[in-house]
Amino acid sequence: MEYSTFFVKSYGCQMNIYDSEKIISILENRGLKKNQDVESADLVIFNTCNIRDKAAHKLYSDIGRVNKYKKERTIAVVGCVAQAENEEMFSKNKSIDIILGPQSYHLLPQMIDDIKKNPKQLNTEFIVNEKFDYLIEQKRKQGVSSYLTIQEGCDKFCSFCVVPYTRGPEYSRPLSSLLNEVNSLTDNGAKEIVLLGQNVNAYNIFHNGRKINIADLIEEISKNENVKRIRYTTSHPINMSDNLIELHSTNDKLMPFIHLPVQSGSTNILNKMNRKYDVSYYRKIIDKLKIVNPKIEISSDFIIGYPGETEEDFQKTLKLVDDIKFTQSYSFIYSARPGTKSALQDDKTPLNVKKERLLILQDKLKNIQLEFNETFCGKNIEVLVENQSMSNPEFFFGRTPFMQSVYIKSSEINPGELKNVNISTCNHKNLYASC
Ligand code: SAH
Ligand code: SF4
Ligand code: F3S
Repeated sequence: MEYSTFFVKSYGCQMNIYDSEKIISILENRGLKKNQDVESADLVIFNTCNIRDKAAHKLYSDIGRVNKYKKERTIAVVGCVAQAENEEMFSKNKSIDIILGPQSYHLLPQMIDDIKKNPKQLNTEFIVNEKFDYLIEQKRKQGVSSYLTIQEGCDKFCSFCVVPYTRGPEYSRPLSSLLNEVNSLTDNGAKEIVLLGQNVNAYNIFHNGRKINIADLIEEISKNENVKRIRYTTSHPINMSDNLIELHSTNDKLMPFIHLPVQSGSTNILNKMNRKYDVSYYRKIIDKLKIVNPKIEISSDFIIGYPGETEEDFQKTLKLVDDIKFTQSYSFIYSARPGTKSALQDDKTPLNVKKERLLILQDKLKNIQLEFNETFCGKNIEVLVENQSMSNPEFFFGRTPFMQSVYIKSSEINPGELKNVNISTCNHKNLYASC
């Protein structure tokens, strides 16, 4: 069949969304048109996530729904479920035509061509440097705030997590390629660069015989005068090096907000998770950060109900939350993932207990977030304006240095501007301003 339109859905993390952007540019450069709706698309791409079983299950129900619309089209399953389940997916669901792992989606155009000869296409090899060499050529406009993948993969093997299996070992992209991509992003209007990686602060390369880590990279990127703000996510606590911490006091472009997942406030559980740090180490990192820059705020991920988590362990998590006062966070009930070490462990805690714990934690996190947001009411704060509301053009959206979403009523601002706005009201999710 001839392809003229395609549809892409992302199920996963920021890296997954970044990958979808790249897939879109590859296909647009080949003359295909992106559809907003799935119904009439010739090529449907599901960019999957395997982190919890819910995300993986959703894929199969979505494929079922697509099948109702149109018989003559190709379904490509790419990303982390494709990598984990591999060719098994062809037998699970007959309407899947292409299975493509997250390191090889630059091969997608070739596979679409080859489908005429061979109706089932599969590639799940780890060829990460080849992927980036190819993708750097694919220019697509990102926004005022643009993602830049600097590192992929994970060598840490936390006992609950699929990422080392789906994304492969840690790989850092070369400096020159990253700086070129930053130039291309700022040429297209980017003012904020968000460095991405599964363990972004494990970034590590040799350049002209010198070791370069994420702090050196941030310094290099800061030299581009069109870059006004820099963020990095997701960091692993054991890779928070002293020079990265120090940079938060010396580099004004580096935002005072760090996503540093702790997972649990109990050292007993952290050991079982193979997180490679204990709670006192985590607290020390936060102390160091606050010493170099007292303005710094922290967000985290939490897993509730890891096998063997007792009420006492859970209380320790609540205590840590009270002490650190995370201003934004994600929290999930533990999901046993096939192939991981902890999937083999006995898990005696009933689901309803886990659900109760999750609600208690989320309630606490929400209150802390609200209290933090309230401290901004009546005050001025610098916001990077990202876009204008399509439905209501007198409203603009932007973010504070601490990643809070701000809705601004104004007739005088433009996307891309850094603007001091006066916060009038807030809730736990958003701040509201006018100027
Ligand atoms: N590399 C990052 C996190 C990447 S995965 C880190 O180590 O912090 C994103 C988040 O998904 C994790 O922080 C964790 O909280 C959550 N997660 C991963 N596996 C999970 C599982 N099996 N069940 C529930 N949550 C999980
Ligand atoms: Fe998963 Fe742990 Fe690696 Fe994070 S550090 S991606 S949680 S294995
Ligand atoms: Fe999901 Fe893969 Fe990201 S499993 S969280 S899409 S790295």
